[in-house]
Amino acid sequence: QNEIYTAGVHRRKPRVPTDFAELERRAKRAMSSRAWAYIAGGAGEGRTMTANRAALDRWAIVPRVLRDVSQRNLEIELFGRRIPAPVLFAPVGAGSLAAPEADALVGRAAAELGVPYIFSNQAGVPMESVAAEMDRVDAGAPRWFQLYWSTDDDLVDSLLARAEAIRADAVVVTLDTTMLGWRPQDLNLGSLPFARGEGIAQYTSDRRFGDIVSERLRAASDERPEISLGAVATLMSITRNAPGRFLSNLRSPRPRASVQTFLDIYSRPSLDWDDLAGLRDRTSLPIVLKGVLHPDDARRAVDAGVDGIIVSNHGGRQIDGAISTIDALDTIAPVVDGRIKVLIDSGIYTGSDVLKALALGADAACIGRPHMYGVALAGADGARDVVADIIAQLDLTLGLAGHTDVADLDRDVLRRL
Ligand code: FNR
Repeated sequence: QNEIYTAGVHRRKPRVPTDFAELERRAKRAMSSRAWAYIAGGAGEGRTMTANRAALDRWAIVPRVLRDVSQRNLEIELFGRRIPAPVLFAPVGAGSLAAPEADALVGRAAAELGVPYIFSNQAGVPMESVAAEMDRVDAGAPRWFQLYWSTDDDLVDSLLARAEAIRADAVVVTLDTTMLGWRPQDLNLGSLPFARGEGIAQYTSDRRFGDIVSERLRAASDERPEISLGAVATLMSITRNAPGRFLSNLRSPRPRASVQTFLDIYSRPSLDWDDLAGLRDRTSLPIVLKGVLHPDDARRAVDAGVDGIIVSNHGGRQIDGAISTIDALDTIAPVVDGRIKVLIDSGIYTGSDVLKALALGADAACIGRPHMYGVALAGADGARDVVADIIAQLDLTLGLAGHTDVADLDRDVLRRL
């Protein structure tokens, strides 16, 4: 924040706009209409997206004066690690729509800030490559892995093993996307991103996924001999070793089999609490459930022995007319009562939004679309600056409100309007 003001004194403009409205406007101009529809879009008529922002506006920060706020602390602890600010990069799939290799750029941005990046299961770059990019900035920079629970248990195990191998600090299991929501912006353009192969690099770089595709092709070749075993072998080597080449070959029927397989198996709509119980035995990583909005589900999550939840409505992309995450947090935080970590996302775009979420009981907030707009406008630097600005605003707002440590924030800081 000091840097920004200093630059302003010298009449240098910041790399990315310092408010969300202008950031969004500029990103829209920079992106293709397809990318904009997918990234900015929400479910149905956009009511949940609107609700997320409106709910924040119903809480006002009531500042205190004449307290020494010269020294402030934003640092928190998450699963045994110190994190410099209560902010994470949310998992965002099909990021290559915003910029080529977006996941690697965002990884670099997160590593530069030292805050965790949650790798999407639907990333455009394999997790090993993003982790390597982050390690170049800071070896062991915090990274989490987000899982969509596949219909194939062995694929789940394979993804978890890879996440452990890249030294992920936690696994986030996203529960609100058992099916893809009704997204008119994409539907009206006739554009489902994954159908063109974006966002499936985690799969095409996976051994187990390659096996599944080849099993399917083998079965198909029994019925249709024109799909030869040679073709199967070629496909497997392409998908395992060179996702980039896979994408450029997407028009061929063989990679299309991968896309179809992905669409068939990426998510398990039958998933239930009994399945979840088995996850503990499959990984030693802390488990975080993403998409919890009901206090009873939060209570069950605590009882199930998970390590954290993310109060999320997927940025308003799944249900039209869902409860805002701030309102949901207000009912969930008292139930959890500090027993596990509570994170929040969806519409948290400024430092004061983060402060309100912390005051209502969140331990940290994840930022989704803003970092994608940053990467679309100015690559890794853009993604970093957007999140650095949110952190700087949080720091300022904390001090201006008369507080010196994010750990001290509670409901007394706010008044319900
Ligand atoms: C997402 N989100 C998401 N979540 C997840 O668990 N796995 C994923 O692959 C994706 N993909 C994805 C793509 C895009 C383009 C967006 C905008 C979002 C949801 C994301 O993690 C987060 O919950 C929301 O983005 C938070 O809301 P805001 O900050 O975008 O309003």
